[in-house]
Amino acid sequence: MAVVTLSNHKQFLATADTSILDAAKAQGLVLEHSCRTGRCGACKALVTKGETQILKAEESLTENEVDAGFILTCCRTAVNDLDLDIEDLGLLASIKTLTLPCKIDQLHLLAPDVIQILLRLPPTNQFNYLPGQYIDVIARSGIRRSYSIANLLQADGKLELHVRAVNNGQMSHYWFNEAKTNDLLRLEGPHGTFCFHPKAEKNIIFLATGTGIAPIKSMLEAFATKAEWVEGKNIYIYWGARHLADLYWRPDFTNLNVIFRPTLSQAQEGWEGRKGYVQDAVIADAIAINDSVIYACGSDTMIHAAKKLFIAQGLKPENFYSDAFVSS
Ligand code: FES
Repeated sequence: MAVVTLSNHKQFLATADTSILDAAKAQGLVLEHSCRTGRCGACKALVTKGETQILKAEESLTENEVDAGFILTCCRTAVNDLDLDIEDLGLLASIKTLTLPCKIDQLHLLAPDVIQILLRLPPTNQFNYLPGQYIDVIARSGIRRSYSIANLLQADGKLELHVRAVNNGQMSHYWFNEAKTNDLLRLEGPHGTFCFHPKAEKNIIFLATGTGIAPIKSMLEAFATKAEWVEGKNIYIYWGARHLADLYWRPDFTNLNVIFRPTLSQAQEGWEGRKGYVQDAVIADAIAINDSVIYACGSDTMIHAAKKLFIAQGLKPENFYSDAFVSS
């Protein structure tokens, strides 16, 4: 058993067969993470003392990062006592990860290749989450896929998911061809640390591509019920898509100062909105980046490009939060 110490002096025990991320979670400490598979890089941490052992490939680390002592906490175990230069996210400590049965309540096509799924949970469940988090849905066949929750926790306990069709995707085939109301599935969650962080900056900028709008919709629904969280803020939403038909949602919050900027990457006749990449559209609009907090969700390519661009434009690195959709 090894003792892992974080930079805020909190400690937890880690065993040789559990990832550092999971060991922390089991003891009530949530470390930043998203995919839990080594591909998004959200759980990157600098080891300042001790040794670790690889559990699965750290695909998103560069050679330079490995040489500098960085690890992915979802991919490594502790060999002996470790010091990590990261802090836990106290905000998420009270959120428990559960595995629950659920049933499909409704299916509805939102766009030519996006389906909305409402899942119904058992009536007495204890499921809770922060807007922005995601769940894994486990089909009867055992296939598991991750989806962001698109709504705020409701009294009826129904969870809304937005699922994009994937060519030759096994789970995608199920959702678009076989799924029907009352099908029994299982869910595990919530997972992920993508959620709202109250900060002093004036602008909150949401960037999304495709179904990356889902966790942002959930956060906005939370703001609408707690408008004091974002009082006096400008809330920008840049949502990128290829075609007009892909923009299947519009914000409709009368008590929030929302500036909605749908952005098409491909030329479309009659389109007078923003064009190109979402991150470039933000820059073109001359928003004070150094007075902003940015939340980006969607393709890995967009997230990497956006982070680099905004930091070069004066964004504090700690004000960039992201949730990358990595393929299964
Ligand atoms: S790489 Fe560890 S959470 Fe994504």
